Amino acid sequence: MQDNIESHLTENRVFAPPPEFAANARIGSMAEYQRLYRESIDDPEAFWSREARELLWRREWNRVLEWKAPFAKWFIGGQINVSENCLDRHLTGGRRNKAAIIWEGEPGDRQTLTYQQLHREVCRFANVLKRNHVAKGDRVIIYMPAIPEAAIAMLACARIGAVHSVVFGGFSADAIRDRIADSGATALITADGGYRRGAVVPLKRNVDDALRGTSAAAGSVKRVIVFRRTGNDIHIEEGRDVWWHRELEYVDGNCEPEPLDSEHPLYILYTSGSTGKPKGILHTTGGYLLGIYSTTKYVFDLREDDIYWCTADIGWVTGHSYVVYGPLACGATTFMYEGAPNWPEPDRFWRIIETYGVNILYTAPTAIRAFIRWGNEWVKKHDLSSLRLLGSVGEPINPEAWMWYRDVVGGGRCPVVDTWWQTETGAIMITALPGAIPQKPGSATLPFFGVDAAIVDEQGEEVPANAGGKLIVRKPWPSMLRTIYGDPERFEKQYWSEFKGRYLTGDGARRDEDGYFWIVGRIDDVLNVAGHRLGTSEIESALVSHPQVAEAAVVGRADELKGQAVVAFVTLKSGIEAHQELKRELREHVGKHIGAIAKPDEVRFAEALPKTRSGKIMRRLLKEIASGKSVTGDTTTLEDFSVLATLSGSEE
Ligand code: WTA
Repeated sequence: MQDNIESHLTENRVFAPPPEFAANARIGSMAEYQRLYRESIDDPEAFWSREARELLWRREWNRVLEWKAPFAKWFIGGQINVSENCLDRHLTGGRRNKAAIIWEGEPGDRQTLTYQQLHREVCRFANVLKRNHVAKGDRVIIYMPAIPEAAIAMLACARIGAVHSVVFGGFSADAIRDRIADSGATALITADGGYRRGAVVPLKRNVDDALRGTSAAAGSVKRVIVFRRTGNDIHIEEGRDVWWHRELEYVDGNCEPEPLDSEHPLYILYTSGSTGKPKGILHTTGGYLLGIYSTTKYVFDLREDDIYWCTADIGWVTGHSYVVYGPLACGATTFMYEGAPNWPEPDRFWRIIETYGVNILYTAPTAIRAFIRWGNEWVKKHDLSSLRLLGSVGEPINPEAWMWYRDVVGGGRCPVVDTWWQTETGAIMITALPGAIPQKPGSATLPFFGVDAAIVDEQGEEVPANAGGKLIVRKPWPSMLRTIYGDPERFEKQYWSEFKGRYLTGDGARRDEDGYFWIVGRIDDVLNVAGHRLGTSEIESALVSHPQVAEAAVVGRADELKGQAVVAFVTLKSGIEAHQELKRELREHVGKHIGAIAKPDEVRFAEALPKTRSGKIMRRLLKEIASGKSVTGDTTTLEDFSVLATLSGSEE
């Protein structure tokens, strides 16, 4: 992190938008950006009403915003349906037979769905949901590979007003079980399996494990709908499980979109916070749709004939907002790919771009750093001249990776937009607008319309230029989270209490003399590993659930490839001997409880964890130890931190 700040301070390259790009862009100059930004802050209601009128409302709102901090309502009295805006709205004009989704599976199979076809599939599947007693307001878990049917399932839920909660396909049975229990989901949509690096991920088996026994989850889910993707053998539980393709035989393609109140819940997406339990971030209908519509339109500056590719999995918020809802709300062609970037070889992405003529690429710094490591020859083998815009999301991008992305992938001609946002914010918050805002490698640049971002010190006072502090947002915005599902107190405490009535992002940042934001990263107990959010306490509770573990503390350490790596300090119950095999077992244990992404990169056994006199684990000290010279892989001797703790004094 510190390294990041320093390289930022020496970073002074500025790339103005290419004139041809600016000439055709929706926002084509800094003056235009500033004029609209000013309006969006001074008169947000006028700005957002104008944007909202580009969407299809079933009933017009009578008030734009009701703000009783920290609870916001947008477009009160208005009725709208997200699926109607993403589909039906595009059927009357020339987009009817335009590709909505172009998809490639990892084995190389392909599918294209036009707006008309996608509309029909969503209507049919919405009827399948109804047939299986899924009604407006019901919660539905979606646990699927990145296939068009995942988007169809999401849109079908939105069409009938059911609330989806997508669980990333890399998460384990335990994670599914927790999310079902917390959301009270009554139905679950999954697939027999998905492909990853040539192997089949046994999705249905994980679902079966999650629903085994007499847990709250098992009692909650009445129906499991299974899409056949891989054709592997699976168990079908009579009376509970049905096949997607069989169900389609009973329905037709007519399903009117349900007119929903603007504040009707659209989805719950679980994300890691600083406690052991993931938070169910709740997004609602009208404001969220407006936020992702408006950001997709201005940030990616879509042209009617663009092919746009966001490489995120639908299990993360980026997949929700910028694979499915944002591009479809804009009537764009969204490209989806199921598998790994290095399968079968490290040029899969570049092959796809060349084959389909992708124009806009939106990916993560972790992927970019992996591409750098795999070597330029993989990129150079392919004609990437169709690309005209590049985007980055999920973690801070180091200036070197930014430059490589711009030069090697973008051929030096494509603007690069570094977009900062979060599951909670729903839509992009800080970003360059490609035709207007000059880019500095490593900076997310300036706030999007309506975003009143600031950097403050511990007292909540805005800090001067180039001083570090906490990133906050001072005004409500349309796509903001509405609450933590079922826990409004935690919502208030977590985000709105440190600086009353202002949104705490959990990120540290600074603003330079031009007002540009430089995001340093999380300053709470959340790690960002390869662009995936993980709570240290979530991993700790997984570790202590192992019968031989007494105590665990998890910290992050800088990692060249993944941004951060997970280091676990573990003390064992008395009489248990530390050994190499146990390290492996603990890593697997965490994988089983959360998912492979959470497995510690390093497990270190300690005699005792360093603690303050009041018994708090000295995390700052552990972070320093973790980032120091790493112990060799096979050391299993117990480390003794008590001396260090004494040396560094108490840390309250
Ligand atoms: C980090 C992903 C720097 C940040 C959309 C944030 C970033 C967390 C950027 C949210 C960026 C995301 N530059 N850091 N452009 N984008 N982050 O909820 O720490 O999975 O708080 O949402 O990722 O992660 P989440």
